[in-house]
Amino acid sequence: MIFDVKSIREDFPILYRKVNGKPLVYLDNAATSQTPQQVIDVIVDYYSKYNANIHRGVHTLSQEATDAYENARRTIQSHFNAKHPHEIIFTSGTTHSINMIANGFASLLKKGDEIIVSALEHHSNIVPWQMLCEKTGATLKVIPMNSEGELIISEYDMLLNENTKLVFVNHISNALGTINPIENIITKAHDVGAAVLIDGAQACPHLKPDVQKLNVDFYVCSAHKICGPTGIGMLYGKEEWLQKLPPYQGGGEMIAEVSFDKTTYADLPHKFEAGTPNVCGGIAFGAAIDYMNTIGFETIAQYEGELLEYATTELLYIDGLKIYGTSANKTSVISFNVGNIHPYDLGTLLDKMGIAVRTGHHCAQPIMDFYKIPGTVRASFMFYNTKEEIDLFISALKKSIMMLS
Ligand code: ALA
Repeated sequence: MIFDVKSIREDFPILYRKVNGKPLVYLDNAATSQTPQQVIDVIVDYYSKYNANIHRGVHTLSQEATDAYENARRTIQSHFNAKHPHEIIFTSGTTHSINMIANGFASLLKKGDEIIVSALEHHSNIVPWQMLCEKTGATLKVIPMNSEGELIISEYDMLLNENTKLVFVNHISNALGTINPIENIITKAHDVGAAVLIDGAQACPHLKPDVQKLNVDFYVCSAHKICGPTGIGMLYGKEEWLQKLPPYQGGGEMIAEVSFDKTTYADLPHKFEAGTPNVCGGIAFGAAIDYMNTIGFETIAQYEGELLEYATTELLYIDGLKIYGTSANKTSVISFNVGNIHPYDLGTLLDKMGIAVRTGHHCAQPIMDFYKIPGTVRASFMFYNTKEEIDLFISALKKSIMMLS
């Protein structure tokens, strides 16, 4: 497919709005991506034509909704190359998925066991494991990072031993954009018998993971980072792990038989999907994956790489600007500060000029502590951004710096 960013932008109605009287330049894609009309139409269609509870009704609407929801599961299975559709569990998002696994492992860990996370994690991939360690007496160890924002793999090698039961690493750092060497991390963890969970929240908008090729035990992500709606995400788990872990919540649809003496659980994936799910969200998640695939992840990666290189070069011309996260292997996320200007002040002035960026610690305080900074300004690009938008961003940034200096 020939990549035509102008026609792609026409799919995103929000990109045509104004903010503070200026055309919106949306560069906060790592927080949430925008939604194309194709996905909005699927949501409107669901509520206009076949909104119903699923797996429960013999009536037509329920059957249509069930079919669409299960088709979306198969779309997601095929996208991630999972072996079975029932290895895809719908969740409310990455945080929910991680907490499900942390909860599941509470019954499998004991004092003396060790869990490894990385210094590059989002709080959602730190706090659940700290809670798990408190519950089980297991110990949390951390793979340190270097000043480029890369994990120090030689230190990871030293942390691994026969007590290591779990390793949790993000595929791409949300705060810095570093792409972690997860193939190597997974292989080494398996060599000592540990299971691996990869947080793919920031990776899935930019690349297409193959969970079988990675041989990963668990892979998690959120739809809203991939042009889908908020409140829906997925947990991929190898069948044998999902069979072994206890359910996260009890309720309707996750049971086989219930009596006051004993309850037996439903087969996968329903064992992990208690209650009425986010039916529309699941269907729209599938539509979002279809949309991204029509553009193609190779095309996306190449174009976003060009945006990253252009924006990095232009930013580095600015006096006093320092970029955090300078790995050669990174995605289209740029975290930076300018002199002593507080990131929040820059973000606020940029917004006045229509530019949306994220400011703060990006839910990754240990990274900010490493660099001894309170936070950064973060600009993050998707395939619908343009070099012209980067020019507007740089020009607004220069104006903001002058006003604050
Ligand atoms: N995790 C999201 C971010 O990095 C919210 O902004």
